[in-house]
Amino acid sequence: MVQRYTQLCPVAFGAGAVSTTGDVAKELGFCKVLVVTDENVEKLGHIQKVVDSLVAAGIEMVLFNRSEMDAPDYSVQAGAALAKGEAVDGIIGIGGGSVLDTAKGISALAANDINVAEMLDYTRKMMPLANPSMKLILIPTTSGTGSESTFVAVISDTTTHEKIGVPSPPSFAIVDPELTLGMPKAITLYTGMDALSHVCEALTSIQPNPHSDVLCYDTIERIYKWLPVAADEPMNLEARENLALASNHAGIAFNDAMVHLGHAIAHSLGATYHIPHGVACALVTPVIIELTAPVYPDKIKKIGACMGLTVSSKEPQEIGLAVANHLRAFQKELGLPTFKELDLTREQILGCMSYVANEGLRFLCPVPVTEAVITESLGKLYDSYQ
Ligand SMILES: [Fe+2]
Repeated sequence: MVQRYTQLCPVAFGAGAVSTTGDVAKELGFCKVLVVTDENVEKLGHIQKVVDSLVAAGIEMVLFNRSEMDAPDYSVQAGAALAKGEAVDGIIGIGGGSVLDTAKGISALAANDINVAEMLDYTRKMMPLANPSMKLILIPTTSGTGSESTFVAVISDTTTHEKIGVPSPPSFAIVDPELTLGMPKAITLYTGMDALSHVCEALTSIQPNPHSDVLCYDTIERIYKWLPVAADEPMNLEARENLALASNHAGIAFNDAMVHLGHAIAHSLGATYHIPHGVACALVTPVIIELTAPVYPDKIKKIGACMGLTVSSKEPQEIGLAVANHLRAFQKELGLPTFKELDLTREQILGCMSYVANEGLRFLCPVPVTEAVITESLGKLYDSYQ
């Protein structure tokens, strides 16, 4: 079988990489850029490193610091209006997943003569925009989203409460683990679990390839080993480097192999109850492992092996349950919350049924996603934790 894998964009990886932003911007031919971020990232002082590098390279900049959680459509509209008004020739996004998605959305919208609602409609109808996105550099400040190496921007439609995946590929990614030093424990855990969910779904989607599989297994090993270290030692650079690489590898892997039912469920919980994406992903991943074990028993066994678990059974359902429970125990040890602790009832979780049933990612699950499968999966999210 012939399988394709993608080399989406170059990546500059390593401690101090952010200081090369100006050089990268110059390489891309930028003269005046819009720097997209949020107030939190601005307060952490990361923006100054980008500014210093741009100034040294002789590149003008305009700041847009109004990115918000879950990349709402109105932020994308405001950022694109600023980009057009200031006649910038490039976009730089620096921040967590929501900021990077906002920057991607802005780079798509600013290149076209439409408003954000029209752009989301084009995407729903799978119609391409007239012009390609503006050139874009993405600099993650968390280790989870992988958005710096994926072609889609997940934008929230605040009218319909849907999350829409707008195509907008980055031109260059700068992954600097130093930007993640000192990250609070909760964000470290949530983002790490997001990356773990990306690879567990990429391994078990309908379209994995040999390249994505290699990156996925490596990612699981790194996260299992280094996430507890980073959670307890926020300034441990070796742990941060491993998690930054894992997150980026996960992004490259799922850009091809895609995620599936787990993210359809996580998106529904985020859109309906504002459950942090990483928490929803963490809790749903064991469910996906159990669900896909009959299709990919050897892969699920290997996921377990990457987390130090040897499963001797040849029975797919036993393999799935063993690996899923091992992951649940790991998450409990790390202190991740359960839905019960988040004060969500079983009925509320089951109420996500219609959202999940209409989420496009469900088609990438190797198990047909019937209403019964969705109900069982949503129920397990609650029932698996006492
Ligand atoms: Fe995710």
